[in-house]
Amino acid sequence: MLIVVGSDHGGWELKEFLKTYLQSQSYSVEDLGCYNSTSVDYPDFAHQLVQHILNHKSEKGILICGTGIGMSISANRYPGIRAALCSEPMSARLSRQHNDSNVLVLGGRTIGKELAREIVKVWLATTFSGGRHARRLEKIDSVKDIKKTKI
Ligand code: RB5
Repeated sequence: MLIVVGSDHGGWELKEFLKTYLQSQSYSVEDLGCYNSTSVDYPDFAHQLVQHILNHKSEKGILICGTGIGMSISANRYPGIRAALCSEPMSARLSRQHNDSNVLVLGGRTIGKELAREIVKVWLATTFSGGRHARRLEKIDSVKDIKKTKI
């Protein structure tokens, strides 16, 4: 499986660590940057990564910034993107089972490397449960129609 990864300077170090981990687990990794600790703007990387997922170049992506918050806000602007900011493995597991998250977001300045690796491991190993959760996901994307309705 191809995993696309992206970060800003606040997530760069963790991205490098996780890239090595993913490759050691035989995943192919496409790294969209950034490539060093020079200050950059997180939305640029979130927008790029989202395009990869929406164009089916990759099924899953990982975004990392300092807190993970800016990346989450940016990625979740796109219908069809379900970006989950996780700081522990249980949320990562449930974000796959219940929300079919296709982007995992991490905070490079808020969690340690070992914990991040555990979160990634669980996230990649867990499948979507479907059923009632699929109905709920359809309702998330129906926001387009709701927005058009005058109240
Ligand atoms: C960059 O300093 C920082 O704002 C960014 O990494 C992220 O935490 C934003 O949400």
